[in-house]
Amino acid sequence: MTARGPAPGEAIPLARPEVGEPEAAAVAAVLASGQLSMGPRVASFETAFAARVGAAHACAVSSGTAGLHLALRAAGVGDGDEVVTSPFSFVASANVVLYERARPVFADIDPRTLNLDPQAAAAAITPRTAAVLPVHIFGYPADLPAFERLGLPLVEDACEALGAVHADGLPVGGRGHPAAFGFYANKQITTGEGGMVTTGDGAMKARMDSERNQGRAPDMGWLDHDRLGFNYRLSDLACAVGLAQLERLDGMLAARARVAALYREALAGMEGLELPCADTGGDRRSWFVFVVQVPRGRDRDETVRALAQRGVQSKPYLPAIHLMSFYRERFGHRPGEFPVCEDVASRSLALPFFPRMDEGQVARVAEALHSALA
Ligand SMILES: Cc1ncc(COP(=O)(O)O)c(C=O)c1O
Repeated sequence: MTARGPAPGEAIPLARPEVGEPEAAAVAAVLASGQLSMGPRVASFETAFAARVGAAHACAVSSGTAGLHLALRAAGVGDGDEVVTSPFSFVASANVVLYERARPVFADIDPRTLNLDPQAAAAAITPRTAAVLPVHIFGYPADLPAFERLGLPLVEDACEALGAVHADGLPVGGRGHPAAFGFYANKQITTGEGGMVTTGDGAMKARMDSERNQGRAPDMGWLDHDRLGFNYRLSDLACAVGLAQLERLDGMLAARARVAALYREALAGMEGLELPCADTGGDRRSWFVFVVQVPRGRDRDETVRALAQRGVQSKPYLPAIHLMSFYRERFGHRPGEFPVCEDVASRSLALPFFPRMDEGQVARVAEALHSALA
């Protein structure tokens, strides 16, 4: 049993999880054990995940968003604080700041990597800045050494970056700062919904373990709680799927890299089309999505429609957070504040991308894009 691929003539989907027999067997074993939650698979998944990214600790949670929320709290962010972050991200990385009644302060992005620009971030720091929250967007490692030099607590949004490696050889998530990963169905590994926070700090791990479980300390009795917490637990069923996925991570990452290379070849020479940046200086991307920017002057949304007519799913990805209606109304943001982000957000387009994509499907997407832009 494996997730079915698109039939000939069927639209090519944006993403498709790579799940099958190993995950089914793992879930069956948990069902047979009778312990579906708060059982041994949680610690096993955490230990294996921490080892994989070279972190001392990991805390399994119900989503990447939940992980970011707990990580921010653990980093000490609270009421009235400011957190400097990227406007070119999935909205969750800014929303979690608001959960703690703090303010997300956006700074522009680097036009090559599309990650938060360390210089722009430095310029946005004020006496109220309690943390900086870089996002490893599209799996490309953010410039953590530069952010570390700012001397402020860091919280990493690594939701899209499991398997990425920094130029100094440290895997993303292994630097000691709290880093949140996501396991939604389009991610490098999936548990359906789920997440993990890695950290080098044992006290932080203990706090997050407690807060994901309604504020219960490990030595307390059932229904006894000594702090405010949430239900951000990840079930044993999900952790078993995560463990099975983690075991085949290397194969899935290699398959994603293969599809990215096929795209690079198939799309080379399309005039004005910008492809994801190549790895430079020793940084290594973990392929999560294949996002292109349509040539300047072309209508991205029209391109999405034209691709759909040709049986290819695509999505504008990502919109600028500060220009979303909620953020505009709440903070008075206006176009022009972050020109690099706004330019990229207006032209970027995610193409179908999943480990089992074959050469023929990549060629079909490339042909469709060619004729859509012709
Ligand atoms: C950059 C980024 N941050 C945060 C999240 C939130 O993760 P989740 O959907 O698991 O809550 C995602 C994933 O969707 C993401 O891509």
